[in-house]
Amino acid sequence: MGEALISGLLHSGHWKPSHIIACDIRHDQLAKLQLRYKVHASADNRWAVREADIVLLAVKPQHMKHVLEEVGPVVRQEQLVLSIAAGITTSFIEKFLAKGVPVVRIMPNTPVFVGLGMAGMARGRYAKEAHERAARAIMETVGAALSVPERQMDAVTAVSGSGPAYVFYVAEAMMEAGVKLGLAPHVADALVRQTIQGAGTLLAQSHEEAHTLRERVTSPGGTTEAALKVMEAAKVRAIFMKALRRAKERSSELSQLSY
Ligand SMILES: NC(=O)c1ccc[n+]([C@@H]2O[C@H](COP(=O)([O-])OP(=O)(O)OC[C@H]3O[C@@H](n4cnc5c(N)ncnc54)[C@H](OP(=O)(O)O)[C@@H]3O)[C@@H](O)[C@H]2O)c1
Repeated sequence: MGEALISGLLHSGHWKPSHIIACDIRHDQLAKLQLRYKVHASADNRWAVREADIVLLAVKPQHMKHVLEEVGPVVRQEQLVLSIAAGITTSFIEKFLAKGVPVVRIMPNTPVFVGLGMAGMARGRYAKEAHERAARAIMETVGAALSVPERQMDAVTAVSGSGPAYVFYVAEAMMEAGVKLGLAPHVADALVRQTIQGAGTLLAQSHEEAHTLRERVTSPGGTTEAALKVMEAAKVRAIFMKALRRAKERSSELSQLSY
């Protein structure tokens, strides 16, 4: 995720390699980042944080406490702290920082790797609109971003954070069905990939709602209607509701773990 953001920032043209210091405990990872993006690279987190205007924390949630204990004491009020760690609340982060340090929590998703990510963002106690704008400008280099109150971050996680996996699951199911219907695996694979990309692009670019686009390809008595009737009878919509509710609950459970 951190690397995807470095790549997005540099591709946007607004950031130069000299604006970025990449940190990692793995020296091989640092060497790779330095070679690939020509950014500064350092294994010294404290030094990098002292040098920065914006500190982006992109370690796994279970490593956040350790990293915050290390760098928290050197963060100054005029800096901005961003975190993309799933389930780590702004109040958790603020506990390790001096009073008044602005924090913005971000929930991205994996399409950031192709510049089509979707991120939910929530402001901490001391973050102002300008801080949120700075966070949005960064996330928009790898896709889109929108702000929500922090209490809605578990729902954002359930919808867009985990969302790509639901689409891949549907892709798998359609590919398997295609093969069972007699298609060669590579044919089923190509049909499904392009169909999902096409439908996704149509949905993203259209001003119409998903159900209107769906109705337009569903002629009465036709094949699409026949398939959708089977899905409705199997209560697929209710299963999505149940699945996303469980994802939201799980996100909330993970947030409450004391890492
Ligand atoms: N991947 C996703 O789809 C996704 C979606 C939404 C949010 N996120 C969030 O994004 C964050 C990063 O995820 P990721 O999949 O990119 O994780 P990752 O591949 O583990 O990247 C984190 C990097 O930080 C390094 N690191 C660990 N401890 C460190 C320390 N003390 N100082 C400096 N560097 C340290 C890790 O090294 P080691 O490998 O040696 O530990 C690793 O290279 C997570 O908090 C995750 O919740 C990810």
